[in-house]
Amino acid sequence: MKKVLLINGSSHEKRDTHEALEIVEKELNAAGVETEWFWIGNGPVRGCMDCEMCEGKARCVFDDDVVNPLIDAICGADGVVIGTPVYFCAPNGALMTVLNRVFYAGSEHGRLFEGKLGASVATMWRSGGNSALAALDKYFMISGMPVVPNKYWNMYFSPRSDLGEDGFGKENLQNLGRNMAEMLLKK
Ligand SMILES: Cc1cc2nc3c(=O)[nH]c(=O)nc-3n(C[C@H](O)[C@H](O)[C@H](O)COP(=O)(O)O)c2cc1C
Repeated sequence: MKKVLLINGSSHEKRDTHEALEIVEKELNAAGVETEWFWIGNGPVRGCMDCEMCEGKARCVFDDDVVNPLIDAICGADGVVIGTPVYFCAPNGALMTVLNRVFYAGSEHGRLFEGKLGASVATMWRSGGNSALAALDKYFMISGMPVVPNKYWNMYFSPRSDLGEDGFGKENLQNLGRNMAEMLLKK
C-alpha cells in the first residue's frame, strides 16, 4: 500500500495546519493511500551548522531532536505533504530550521528522497501563502521529488480568521489529495 507522510510544521499539534492536512488526508485515504503523521513539535531545534558531518552518512550529527526521526519517516513513505502556518509571509522558522537539516543530510548527502512525491500546504490568517509555498517547494525541487500539481495554490485560510469558512480552499485541498493519490497509484 502506498503511504504519504503528513508533516505538521506548526507549533500547534491540532489547529489550523492540522485541519488543512486532514482535508488532504481524507482524500488520500478514500483513494486507498495510507497516511502517517509527523508533528515537528514546539521544542528547541538547532540550526544547520554547515559542519558537513552528514556527508556520507545522510544523518544529522545532532541526534537529540526531530530531524533524524523525520529523515527516517520520509524514507518510509512514498510521498510527503508539508504543512506550515504562514509567519511574516514565510513558513514557520522552526519548520525551515528542521527542513534545512533534514534535506541537507537526507537529500544533499544521500539522495534518499528521489522519486517520492512532494506537496506543500500553507495556512494563514489573510496573506503571504504564496511565498511560504515557494520556499517549501524548493526542498522538493532540489531533491528529485516531483511536486504534485493542483488547480490553485495550496492555501487555506484559518477558520479562526475574520474571513469565515474557506470553502474554496477546502475544495482545492481535496483536489490536491486526489491528484496525489492518482499520481501515487499510477507509479
Ligand atoms: C509570528 C506570526 C506571524 C504571522 N504572520 C502571518 C502572515 O504574514 N500572514 C497571515 O495571513 N497570517 C500570519 N500569521 C497567522 C497564522 O499564519 C495563522 O494563525 C495560522 O493559521 C496558524 O496556524 P496553526 O494554527 O496551525 O499554528 C502569523 C502568526 C504568527 C504567530
